[in-house]
Amino acid sequence: MTTISPSLLACDFLNIESELGHFSNFKNIWFHLDIMDSHFVPNLTFGHPIVEKISKKTKIKLDAHFMVSNPEFFINTFKDFEIHNFTFHLEATTDPLSLIKKAKEYYPSVGISIKPNTECSLITDEILREIDLILIMSVEPGFGGQSFIEDTYSKIKYFKKLKDSSHPNLVIQVDGGVNKENSHKLIKAGANNLVAGSYIFKDGPSSYSAKIESLRS
Ligand code: DX5
Ligand code: ZN
Repeated sequence: MTTISPSLLACDFLNIESELGHFSNFKNIWFHLDIMDSHFVPNLTFGHPIVEKISKKTKIKLDAHFMVSNPEFFINTFKDFEIHNFTFHLEATTDPLSLIKKAKEYYPSVGISIKPNTECSLITDEILREIDLILIMSVEPGFGGQSFIEDTYSKIKYFKKLKDSSHPNLVIQVDGGVNKENSHKLIKAGANNLVAGSYIFKDGPSSYSAKIESLRS
């Protein structure tokens, strides 16, 4: 079953605790946390104290997407917050393999993300052997509510082929502009984890369940 990762960037920040509660009975979801440092991307979101509080208020797996220039700092400083998946950007490091190794010491799942203009082939087979998840950005990282980039399908297919031939457990996650119009095609191309922010949150809590199901169907 496709995992859906609601991006809390689009939730009601003044009521995060009740927002978390609205999802507590849903199956196969992760909470996607967009951590931005105003340097790797031109936006600043939330950091250590907020993530620590969130981790104490929910049993849903936390999926942290670090859009930061120095991921190593964050590997160390987020390690006590029960984050399930730690994703950093390929573009933010010159030595992805050593960062993956370090992250694996603290996090059950480690992902690497590529921006829309980054060549898929920069994710070498050696990297694919070590990661649990590839995050394909379908918008420029930095902001919610942007339009989906159509070129994403070919990138998903590229990784799906490698998954089928040699990395069967690889999670293929897509993030940015995901909604019910493109989710079916994304899943068909090979994505098995969809991040969605504005689509899920924009009409309020009474629609969360239906929104999540609509992304899977
Ligand atoms: C963008 C973030 C996304 C964002 C998605 O940089 O990585 O996770 O919250 O938001 P929507 O679904 O609104 O495009
Ligand atoms: Zn994200």
